[in-house]
Amino acid sequence: RIMEDLEADLFTFKGFTLARVAIKTDHLEKLDDLEIRDDDVFIVTYPKSGTVWSKQILSLIYFEEHRTRTAHLDTIYRVPFLEYCIGKEDLGERPSPRLFNTHLPYYLVPRGLKDKKAKVVYLYRNPKDVLCSYFHFIKMYAVFKAGDTMEEFMKQFLEGKVQGGLWFDHIRGWYEHRSHFNIQFMAYEEMKKDLRSSVLKLCKFLGKDLSGEAVDDVVRQATFESMKDDPLANYENVLNTRVGVTRREGHFLRKGTIGDWKNHMTVEQNERFDKIFQNQMKDFPLPFIWDI
Ligand code: A3P
Repeated sequence: RIMEDLEADLFTFKGFTLARVAIKTDHLEKLDDLEIRDDDVFIVTYPKSGTVWSKQILSLIYFEEHRTRTAHLDTIYRVPFLEYCIGKEDLGERPSPRLFNTHLPYYLVPRGLKDKKAKVVYLYRNPKDVLCSYFHFIKMYAVFKAGDTMEEFMKQFLEGKVQGGLWFDHIRGWYEHRSHFNIQFMAYEEMKKDLRSSVLKLCKFLGKDLSGEAVDDVVRQATFESMKDDPLANYENVLNTRVGVTRREGHFLRKGTIGDWKNHMTVEQNERFDKIFQNQMKDFPLPFIWDI
């Protein structure tokens, strides 16, 4: 079956788990055919790996009107989701250059990406911080069903019963199929440790030649502190007003650090996680940074 119901808040589409918010089935079915332009850019992330951060950075690199704050447009519209229909617009009609983001696995993105002209950036984060960030995120929105404790949520996460499916499958799938795409892998932790170098690395991959001053502008507006204060970038109202999801306490831009998992996982949970990680990620060459 193409679609399968899971929990009240989740369903699968061709084996991939999505949240039941802002989803249109016919839109999902047509994504494979979305016509790809050579100058399109796609950011791919597993949820809670720095999606909104990379949306902000990319839109600042590409659009002067966002760097100078003359455009007053929320990041969710500057870089729309491929699979979730947040705005009313037709993605195919967007003017170039188009920036998109997605949580989809490698086998569900538009097939035109395999022509390798359009660029893909895969941003990943160490999965213990992803787990920890996800646990807080789930508790923040009434629409998601989740265990109340880290123990319950960790089980859910390790079984892939969350939006985005199993973390291991997501990153391995994209990495193992990297030769089909024009793709650059980047780590959240690498951006956190040296944002300016990461912005320059992205500019190089994207073929964007920004002045030193423009790069400074990008970096200044993409730090955790400035995004947290920026109503266009901090997602405070996005899910409430745009998607109709009630927010409980907490903030989307929560902490933005490396190693917060140490404050939320017990020694035993950590050891259990390590065993599974070592088993699932054997021979996986991308480096992971677990703490500062
Ligand atoms: P925490 O919950 O650990 O704070 P996504 O956008 O993929 O859902 O990821 C959200 C995570 O990215 C949150 O992590 C959020 O705080 C963090 N984040 C967002 N903007 C950031 C920034 N400018 N610098 C560092 N982390 C950021």
